[in-house]
Amino acid sequence: MAGQVITVAQQKGGAGKTTLTAHLAVAWMNAGKSIALVDIDPQESLSDWHRQRMELLGEDAGITLRQVSGWRASTEVGRLKRDHDLVVMDSPPHGETAAKVAIRSADMIVVPVQLSPMDLWATRTTLDLAENEKTPAVLVMNRVPPRGRLPDEIRSIIKQLKLPVAKNTLGNRTAFAASMMEGKGVTEFAKTSPAAEEIDALAGELMRRMKRL
Ligand SMILES: Nc1ncnc2c1ncn2[C@@H]1O[C@H](COP(=O)(O)OP(=O)(O)O)[C@@H](O)[C@H]1O
Ligand SMILES: [Mg+2]
Repeated sequence: MAGQVITVAQQKGGAGKTTLTAHLAVAWMNAGKSIALVDIDPQESLSDWHRQRMELLGEDAGITLRQVSGWRASTEVGRLKRDHDLVVMDSPPHGETAAKVAIRSADMIVVPVQLSPMDLWATRTTLDLAENEKTPAVLVMNRVPPRGRLPDEIRSIIKQLKLPVAKNTLGNRTAFAASMMEGKGVTEFAKTSPAAEEIDALAGELMRRMKRL
């Protein structure tokens, strides 16, 4: 079995990389995939979440995690691909080398973007890196407010620029953070919540995109 690799990347800190990585991993695990996570962010937020998960869920945690420095990531990913359906990598706000390695090792890049000009502009670096490495990338709109002029404007810029963007978006929902406090994904924590519905829909859409690659 050779698994597929998804790297969550975005130059801007606080965009939602770690949040997205954890919740997508759990959603894909629930959909029957075997999952390995790779954390190359020296801040280790994903590893902290995973540690909490192991402590609280023990054997049921169901997800492997490796913490590695950026330059070792490709070796580790190569190894993990052999016995997992999906390897999902969380990355730091671009330290150049680490981000390049993470993007080069991936079959698809997922780029969380909040609907602000700074977030949108910051996607350029990541999308360019992905293009240079010939890795397909997709934006995921995160913390989308229910309404407002600015988000609408940003959406229309994304459309005008023909940036690749997922149809499913995530709202600004406390359940995403609250579930992580307990080492869980939101689909385990609050199965029927809007947050769980959003992440399930997004996880499904991204899998369909992967199949088309
Ligand atoms: N959709 C969301 N709804 C509510 N809070 C969110 C959402 N996405 C991210 N956050 C919060 O935003 C902060 C930054 O998210 P994080 O995943 O750590 O970003 P990054 O890894 O890109 O630095 C965290 O406090 C997280 O809980
Ligand atoms: Mg992070």
